[in-house]
Amino acid sequence: MTLQVKTLAEYQDAYQKSVDDPEGFWAEQASTFQWKKKWDKTLEWNFKDPDVKWFVGGKLNITENCLDRHLADRGDQVAILFEPNDPTTPNTTYTYKELHAAVCQTANALKANGIEKGDRVCFYMPMVPELAISVLACARIGAIHSVVFAGFSAQALADRIKDATCKMVICSDYNSRGAKNIPVKKVVDDALDMGCDSIETVFVHKNTGGEVEMKAGRDKWWNEEVDAQSTDCPAEEMDAEDMLFILYTSGSTGKPKGVVHTCGGYMVYTCFSFRNVFQYKEGDVYWCTADIGWITGHSYIVYGPLLAGATTVMFEGVPTYPDPGRFWEVCDKLKVNQFYTAPTAIRALMAKGDQWVDKYDLSSLKVIGSVGEPINEEAWHWYDEKVGKGNSPIVDTWWQTETGGILITPLPGITDTKPCFASYPMPGVQPILVDSQGVLVEGNDVEGLLCVKFPWPSMLRTTYGDHERCRMTYFSSFENLYFTGDGARRDVEGRYRIIGRVDDVINVSGHRMGTAEVENAIDEHPNVVESAVVGYPHDIKGQGIYAYIIINEPVEDEDAFRKEVLAVVVREIGPIAKPDKIQLVSGLPKTRSGKIMRRILRKVASGETSNLGDISTLLNPEVVEEVIKGALA
Ligand code: WT7
Repeated sequence: MTLQVKTLAEYQDAYQKSVDDPEGFWAEQASTFQWKKKWDKTLEWNFKDPDVKWFVGGKLNITENCLDRHLADRGDQVAILFEPNDPTTPNTTYTYKELHAAVCQTANALKANGIEKGDRVCFYMPMVPELAISVLACARIGAIHSVVFAGFSAQALADRIKDATCKMVICSDYNSRGAKNIPVKKVVDDALDMGCDSIETVFVHKNTGGEVEMKAGRDKWWNEEVDAQSTDCPAEEMDAEDMLFILYTSGSTGKPKGVVHTCGGYMVYTCFSFRNVFQYKEGDVYWCTADIGWITGHSYIVYGPLLAGATTVMFEGVPTYPDPGRFWEVCDKLKVNQFYTAPTAIRALMAKGDQWVDKYDLSSLKVIGSVGEPINEEAWHWYDEKVGKGNSPIVDTWWQTETGGILITPLPGITDTKPCFASYPMPGVQPILVDSQGVLVEGNDVEGLLCVKFPWPSMLRTTYGDHERCRMTYFSSFENLYFTGDGARRDVEGRYRIIGRVDDVINVSGHRMGTAEVENAIDEHPNVVESAVVGYPHDIKGQGIYAYIIINEPVEDEDAFRKEVLAVVVREIGPIAKPDKIQLVSGLPKTRSGKIMRRILRKVASGETSNLGDISTLLNPEVVEEVIKGALA
């Protein structure tokens, strides 16, 4: 197993070694895995192209390390502990042996349906074990998975299928989520009607057993296809730098891009970070509440925990069903030791009152984690006192889809915690701050743009089908640096506090969204001339979505129009992108070169109507007053 530091001195040693001799440090970690062939060179890199390769020439299969490797020692230990949506439905479990068999069987079903190494397989599924099993089945045979969060619309799904020219979709019939029953297969059908010509097969997992239409020749029941196969499937030999998966994420411009992660480095780093951040011990029960549709689910429900031989909980439901005590009920029932969730969930549950958390025995908890957005002080203290009872350190983990794993975080019981601070870098991670000119911001008690100056094993390698976009987005702002898009503070003791995005990306309930993407969706409404979307502080969601819209024809019923706009956004992206506030305006404040002055719109949206800065250089300063008036109305 990879190193697990236990004391501050061990952390400091590991950190120093990882900076002095990164190749030696990571080679040592990598050597704890099963390789089919050892690598020739630990690292080759430049951030100019960019071109980053870890464990060059090494051959492996990540599923052998997630599964086969554990069979001898912990074959009968629970690997996946499934908690269904309905609390009265009993848990189901997969031991490492059972998971291994299920993954092999599914891998054979994929092969029998023409899926080969390098093919892309798209997922649109609820949080059921068959999702994790099928994802691992792809990895088993070298197919590249592209999991799409099942809350996205048919249009968004179609865009992603086309971008990666996927050959297969794996979905379920329906999804039980809280009190809702969501017609998952129907969304897939709608997406495939939008010209996804590359799709040859659709696997439909029978989940609720509800009626669905099956298209002859294309659609097949997952269960029948899998059951017909043997449970023996050799693992495909993969190069360390072969693609493992694509995961789409939003940026400040254009459509979401497919972030690419590769096999070797991702394996080493997700296991290493999981073991250290959560201080997982043999026999512990670990629960991350994320959805596998996001990177958190990939790295810290599936790969990291399984690589480390952990028991990982998969939860199908939502935090508030059947009541706001659900998370704590599950922690109590399953005796969860490490719990990892998002600030938005913490704030939502905090707002429901302490009685929901006080009802349950949470004494099994040893570490509680937070991820996805800055956690505000009030939520941090509530989480610490009410959930952690003051003796489970909070790990406020900062990372991104692109980083593949947690880069900045406290280590529980090892480094101290401070509210709202993600604290110190993981061994192997070299963050720095620069100013807008790219000049290094040195010393402590300073603020700047957060960059990373040296590669770490699980960093993105490219954006699918468009390497130039990867270079432009992450490696062109500052020479020889990976730019995160976040601003950060470094306190007197060198801890990092993440302030938030400095680009046109907003973070709504921990979901990352490009303002341009939402604007493009709104603009699909036939009566919209132009729109501008900004984020504003929101008590529960962290940021809410505020849309300023210029319309063509006057509307009689503004509320009806607002509803139409919401429907268009739901159709184009999904419910998570619905604006919280819509303001109709006659114009948008623009610079003389025609650029929207978002700074002003952001201030107005957050309720600040004075101190708007210099507006005299605007093309149309008069609209500012109108925008303010409308916002106050
Ligand atoms: C953005 C990445 C990585 C898991 C889920 C989100 C923000 C993430 C924190 C944190 C403050 C955070 C950043 C980052 N973020 N974690 N602990 N404190 N902000 O992944 O969708 O790729 O979003 O989420 O702004 O850039 P993502």
